[in-house]
Amino acid sequence: MKAFKTLVVLTIALITYTSCKEKTVAVVEEEIPSLKASYENDFLIGSALNGRQINEEDSVQNALIAREFNSYTAENIMKSMHIHPAKDTFNFEMPDKLFALAEKNGAKVHGHTLIWHSQLSSFFYGIKDSTEMVSAMTDHINTIAGRYAGKLDSWDVVNEAVEGDGSLRKSVFLNVLGEDYLPLSFKLAAAADPQADLYYNDYSMTGEAKRKGVIEMVKKIQESGAKIDGIGMQGHWHLDSPSLEEIETSILEYAALGVKVAITELDIDVLPNPRNVEGADISQRAEIDAQNNPYVNGLPDSINVALAKRYEDLFKLFLKHSDKISRVTLWGVNDGDSWKNNFPARGRTNYCLLFDRNNQPKKAYESVMALKENKE
Ligand code: G3I
Repeated sequence: MKAFKTLVVLTIALITYTSCKEKTVAVVEEEIPSLKASYENDFLIGSALNGRQINEEDSVQNALIAREFNSYTAENIMKSMHIHPAKDTFNFEMPDKLFALAEKNGAKVHGHTLIWHSQLSSFFYGIKDSTEMVSAMTDHINTIAGRYAGKLDSWDVVNEAVEGDGSLRKSVFLNVLGEDYLPLSFKLAAAADPQADLYYNDYSMTGEAKRKGVIEMVKKIQESGAKIDGIGMQGHWHLDSPSLEEIETSILEYAALGVKVAITELDIDVLPNPRNVEGADISQRAEIDAQNNPYVNGLPDSINVALAKRYEDLFKLFLKHSDKISRVTLWGVNDGDSWKNNFPARGRTNYCLLFDRNNQPKKAYESVMALKENKE
């Protein structure tokens, strides 16, 4: 941060000096320190963008998004219920805007998500016949992945298909097609967009039973001959769990499959966890009471410091394994945007991200940046 402030002061001094002298000077292009610039040799730094951000409604956030992140994931608008709301209806208005924004800012787009049991377009639930399901999935993937082929960096092809105990989730896809829907999804995506990196993405990816289940599933996808390029660990984590050891073991075991690993939806929950809810299973919403929402009037410095330390430890680990990690995406731009204000209890005040509700960098941002300062 010091470097940033010094740079701004020097730039202003230079502009003032030159305008006083009434000289015409070429614009001095200094690189402003940012997450994306600091980590450009390590991995992409992404953010999930909501509809308001994709519509560029807030000039302060527009600038922040352009400055800090080089990979964008739509938080909601590319999910099937939005992009493919009815069997013969596709809605590309918002996704097209996301691609236009990314092009303007020189950022990549990560597609989220093609095949997911949640926020699923309702017509899928009515399908009972396997031929009809294959045809619906083919149309869905061909039309969406085909439209953005060549423009998109990577897809979450299948999202959240494995339960905590390692078994396959009994989604409509599994119920109608059995396990074959998994390699099928990847084969369809590869055919529709041969250049995109194709990921399996899930939460609670550090638990041993789930990890084993995911590894078994990915091996089967590979054995089927389908292309799978990466595994996304969502990263909806807490101040003290999962442990760094669990995260590291998971990164290593997933990378050992010969795929890239991405941290795809990082946020750190600082609030009390009423029922020890881990991950992002929205069926686990808890009732809220005042005790579970202690920081409505601001985050105590001690927690702010603990959050900064947690982010520092995580990014240190990510840097240690930057040869395996393709991207680290924060799930939201600022604390006010985070879904964690409404999960696992609704209407709380959480502080999960690197920028505060006024879009100012937090201590956590400084600790992540400090890891790279004077190191290159
Ligand atoms: O847009 C409506 C708004 O019109 C309405 O007034 C309001 C009332 O509740 O709801 C708004 O929709 C909400 C939407 O987010 C946009 O804010 C939905 O209720 C809410 O369910 C939805 O939550 C999203 C959640 O996925 C749904 O599963 C979160 O924003 C989004 O961050 C979250 O993201 C998921 C990833 O896709 C997959 N991994 C887990 C992650 C966290 O759950």
